[in-house]
Amino acid sequence: MLVLLCSAFCGGFCDDFSTMPLGFEVSSFESDKNCVSENGVFAFGFLEMDNDEYVVGIKYNLADKASNLPVWAIGGGIRVSLNSTFGLSMDGNLILMNPSRIVQWSSNTSTLGVQKVGLLNNGNLVLLSSKDEIVWESFGSPTNTLLPNQSLHYPQTLRAPSTKSTSSYYSFAISRAGELKLVWEHNVTYWRSHFSSPAIVKEARFDSSGVLGLYDENDKVVWSITAKDYGDSSVNLRHLRIDRDGNLRIYSWDSVSYTWKAVWQAVQDQCDVFGFCGLYSVCGYNSSGPVCNCLYSDPLEQGVESSGAGGAGCRKMVDLGNCRMHTSILVMKQTVLYGLYPSHDVGMLLSQTDCRDYCSNDTSCVAATSRNDGSGLCMIKRTTFISGYNTPFTPAVTFLKVCSVPQAVAAQGANRHGNEGSISSSGGLIAKKGSGKKLMLAIALIILLTVTVILSIQILVFWILYRRRKIKVKTRIPFGRDQMNQHYSVLIRLSFEEIKELTNNFANQLGTSVFKGGLPNKTPIVAKVLKNVVVSEKEFRVTVSTLSGTHHRNLASVKGFCFDSTNKILLYEYVPNGSLDKWLFKTDHSERIWHQRIDIALGVAHGVAYLHTECQKCIIHGNLKLENILLDENLVPKMTDFGLQDLITGRKSVSSSESPSERDIYMLGQIFLQIVTCEREILGENVEQILEQLDESRAGDYMEAIERIVRISFWCMQNKPFLRPSIGEVVKVLEGTLSVDRPPSGLPVRHDSMIDTEVASEIEEE
Ligand SMILES: *[C@@H]1O[C@H](CO)[C@@H](O)[C@H](O)[C@H]1NC(C)=O
Ligand SMILES: *[C@@H]1O[C@H](CO)[C@@H](O)[C@H](O)[C@H]1NC(C)=O
Ligand SMILES: *[C@@H]1O[C@H](CO)[C@@H](O)[C@H](O)[C@H]1NC(C)=O
Ligand SMILES: *[C@@H]1O[C@H](CO)[C@@H](O)[C@H](O)[C@H]1NC(C)=O
Ligand SMILES: *[C@@H]1O[C@H](CO)[C@@H](O)[C@H](O)[C@H]1NC(C)=O
Repeated sequence: MLVLLCSAFCGGFCDDFSTMPLGFEVSSFESDKNCVSENGVFAFGFLEMDNDEYVVGIKYNLADKASNLPVWAIGGGIRVSLNSTFGLSMDGNLILMNPSRIVQWSSNTSTLGVQKVGLLNNGNLVLLSSKDEIVWESFGSPTNTLLPNQSLHYPQTLRAPSTKSTSSYYSFAISRAGELKLVWEHNVTYWRSHFSSPAIVKEARFDSSGVLGLYDENDKVVWSITAKDYGDSSVNLRHLRIDRDGNLRIYSWDSVSYTWKAVWQAVQDQCDVFGFCGLYSVCGYNSSGPVCNCLYSDPLEQGVESSGAGGAGCRKMVDLGNCRMHTSILVMKQTVLYGLYPSHDVGMLLSQTDCRDYCSNDTSCVAATSRNDGSGLCMIKRTTFISGYNTPFTPAVTFLKVCSVPQAVAAQGANRHGNEGSISSSGGLIAKKGSGKKLMLAIALIILLTVTVILSIQILVFWILYRRRKIKVKTRIPFGRDQMNQHYSVLIRLSFEEIKELTNNFANQLGTSVFKGGLPNKTPIVAKVLKNVVVSEKEFRVTVSTLSGTHHRNLASVKGFCFDSTNKILLYEYVPNGSLDKWLFKTDHSERIWHQRIDIALGVAHGVAYLHTECQKCIIHGNLKLENILLDENLVPKMTDFGLQDLITGRKSVSSSESPSERDIYMLGQIFLQIVTCEREILGENVEQILEQLDESRAGDYMEAIERIVRISFWCMQNKPFLRPSIGEVVKVLEGTLSVDRPPSGLPVRHDSMIDTEVASEIEEE
């Protein structure tokens, strides 16, 4: 059978002995051509990935695409685009080049007298010298699979394929002392090979009979596990692989059903794989296997869709500080919650009720898990980056703090921008849901604040009126609910006449449609004249009051507005140092100090994180660009012009394939690259090229931070929106608390000016 298959596929680029000579080269548009091993089992060549990308590697050559699993890839899976090539250079390096023939990976074997490459029957790709000695082998740099008779030595690891931008979380490693372990991120070990003998381990090896063993210097087994079909002679093909779900498995080829069957797995209970369900998700079982359920699926939240599985798309934790009312405790039986990132869990010995009370008394406590296995351990969690598991045999109960008023949860979690529900409805909500005392207190508070606010506004109004002669009190639209928002700060509504007065008849223009002015109390402000506003006054007011409820160091605050039939104007706080583009692109480079630029990038990310996830009602920026990032006297970035895409025509996301928040992330990536390179146009199509352009000697200690920024930028700018990181991940990467993988490919051609240059070069070629 295998031979037959081979004859069907053997139109490859290697000769009958599955070898390729010095100077051979293959391009990815010949990706249907492979070099097949002599026995027909393995094929080497371009492997097509999703996203129109390729890796170069070895896969099985058995049946259909699903069975032909990749078993090795160059450089751990470096992704390249169409028209990339690989080959054996005349000096004996196996190389992978991108379409501009820049070397992406090299075997660095030019000094070893390489004469040819060969694919052996066991799936090992080897570089051979003139005496047919192996001078380099793919078995020496495993990716996610061990084939029979392949060994693992410290510090080699197998890494699960990346599914998201932030690290391929799972790896299978051998420690210096010879212990095998499964690790999440860098240091959470969720499975290990326990062995007691004090032997010195030489290597771990997987063999063709289905045994994974640790061997000492004398090749004696000191520890092993055995597949359940061990010794079954009808099984010809086996491999050991770390899967995307973080489990390590042995697979056997079933030559009857033509499929791979798992015959051993390291972690029996999939829910014990650390972080399996991802953020805000809890692992459990239904009759068909492990399932992930979102943390918030309690009856309070009925009607809110929860898209659980695999940890993708669970609603974020509520910022308890934003609860409209008090918090209450949700009891989750047989459930353990744990922090995913370096957590600040504190363990205490408390009874179950004390554990619960402690958490509800402690404002920084997000959840507490009380073990009822007799240990009396109570783990207090202060991070919102949590995951967990829930099985009938879990001897623990978890107390999750939630907002008493569910609406606050829903508004927080739905990461979309919408007009439903206005801020001014909060009174109604409280009336419906609040309990007696709280209700009275809330009403008293609102009355008190209303009175205070009305009084202070009247004082302001009188001041304005006093200083000017003619504007009649009657013409001022009464301060209705606009004066209040959830943070109880004042949003002023002004007439066009008043705006004219404040801006001295628009005398001092700062930019397109932007004018400087001053309030009567001399506080400088900026008036932004909005064009093409397409919404009703009510919708406008709802949006503006949402915007004025944003209070963040990295956002320019909205102070007031004007809305009449012809004029729509927003008043923002004045930020003295101008916009980021002016600062970045000004000629005097000496002022652009690295740490300032890194701080600015982080500030911008914090601002977006606040908009997307932290403020009461999630806001999309919708127009992120350098011009909309202002710098204050301390060079703290403050974003402006956010949240207006529902008001203005032409601001909606053009492409339907990405959500507005994904669009924001894309633009954020672009801004980061502009900050790092100080160029408006991003030149260079991969991380390395960008980094090369930067003057390393001047970056010095900052190079690592810069590389992180560049890497995450490329992830942000992925064409496929689902590959882009969440803003939370972006912040963590910039802060250095989360590592980030090399991005899958070069920059997608999307930035308008980049498209222009591409077109230009194509024309030149013609
Ligand atoms: C790839 O190369 C082929 C043949 O040279 C050419 O026709 C095609 O336009 C190239 N594609 C890209 C995306 O560069
Ligand atoms: C080859 O050498 C380069 C430069 O020193 C290095 O970055 C790269 O990791 C090496 N490749 C391999 C396969 O070791
Ligand atoms: C178990 O959960 C999975 C994933 O959510 C689902 O596809 C499957 O239908 C469920 N099975 C049963 C029997 O409920
Ligand atoms: C993992 O590493 C981080 C940072 O190096 C550290 O803060 C954290 O405590 C470690 N976690 C564990 C479980 O060791
Ligand atoms: C929680 O606070 C209440 C009232 O202040 C107090 O009586 C109780 O002892 C506290 N509980 C714990 C576990 O600290």
